[in-house]
Amino acid sequence: MPFYHKLGKIPPKRHTQFRKPDGSLYAEQLFGTIGFDGMSTNSYHEHRPTQVKAIKKQYSVAPKIAKANHIQSYRLKGFQVKPENDYLDSRKTVLTNSDCSIILAAPKQSTKDYFYKNTDADELIFIHKGTGKLRTHLGNLDFKYGDYLLVPRGIIYKIDFDTKDNRLFIVESKRPIYTPKRYRNWFGQLLEHSPFCERDLRQPQELETHNEKGDFLMKVKKQDDIFEMVYATHPFDVVGYDGYNYPYAFSIHDFEPITGRIHQPPPVHQTFETDAFVVCSFVPRLYDYHPDSIPAPYNHSNIDSDEVLYYVDGDFMSRNDVAAGHISLHPAGIPHGPHPGATERSIGKVKTDELAVMVDTFKPLMVTEEALKIADEEYYKSWVE
Ligand SMILES: [Fe+2]
Repeated sequence: MPFYHKLGKIPPKRHTQFRKPDGSLYAEQLFGTIGFDGMSTNSYHEHRPTQVKAIKKQYSVAPKIAKANHIQSYRLKGFQVKPENDYLDSRKTVLTNSDCSIILAAPKQSTKDYFYKNTDADELIFIHKGTGKLRTHLGNLDFKYGDYLLVPRGIIYKIDFDTKDNRLFIVESKRPIYTPKRYRNWFGQLLEHSPFCERDLRQPQELETHNEKGDFLMKVKKQDDIFEMVYATHPFDVVGYDGYNYPYAFSIHDFEPITGRIHQPPPVHQTFETDAFVVCSFVPRLYDYHPDSIPAPYNHSNIDSDEVLYYVDGDFMSRNDVAAGHISLHPAGIPHGPHPGATERSIGKVKTDELAVMVDTFKPLMVTEEALKIADEEYYKSWVE
């Protein structure tokens, strides 16, 4: 998050003595990214955060690749992913490359008996269904339908759901996820033409501090393995922190669409960026207002990027037969465009209620075995008239 945030108690000067009421020192931790060059946070703990008691298990959660090289458009029926009790077990990677993974999840239960930390990747968790609270060692965030939760790598978290009916669309990114740089001035402030501003980005305001010793299980993801580690102190023992590296939330409903007289290109929908992919939000908006405009997109050849669209809600103007929870994958190397009839059908329409999340990757995505379980193998022929 490229702006400063402070929560809880911190001393006036960094790296100086900061004492508890009993006179002992709080344990300071600098939590940085990209070596010491990226965003960082300075946090103060009741106990040293280094107290590993045991490493109990190690197992792989690497996705199983079904098709590494391919040129086939796919439709995946995301709501066919079966709900599972456990949050980590419920996460099914459907598309992946060396930069990122696209994951669908339908967890029924909150994380209860463990903490989770992903050291491989930033996680962007889009809440399609469900409400609850993301609890992290740097503070909590309430979430609901339409929220993006940005969890930078290394944040220790648990996730509480209010009900059993939850649907998540998750992007794991090995590259840091930022908001687009072109919407920021040289100080990092969001500019007037940005489709969102600082007020729309929700920072943690509630900090849980547990001063407890015992056995605390943490599942740590590293190199596509989960390591089950036992810590001697409660991982949520921060009394205060400040800096730039912390989780935050942004609602897709707060994205202000940019519209024009003729069809606007996908970058106007951009919400997040990395150097390996972009994330765009397609939200309800007025259509193009040139008298001869065609609201449906033109055919386009994303010759060097794969396009993943996750359909959230509303009516999807350029597609026939897609529903909420579906993913379309339009791979690099071949053109794609509106389905037969969609272009004519769009003419004269003044607005759309569509809601969708798009991920465009610069490297091709591999299709996993989990994807093939929910795949429409005939989708690639759906443009034939
Ligand atoms: Fe496209």
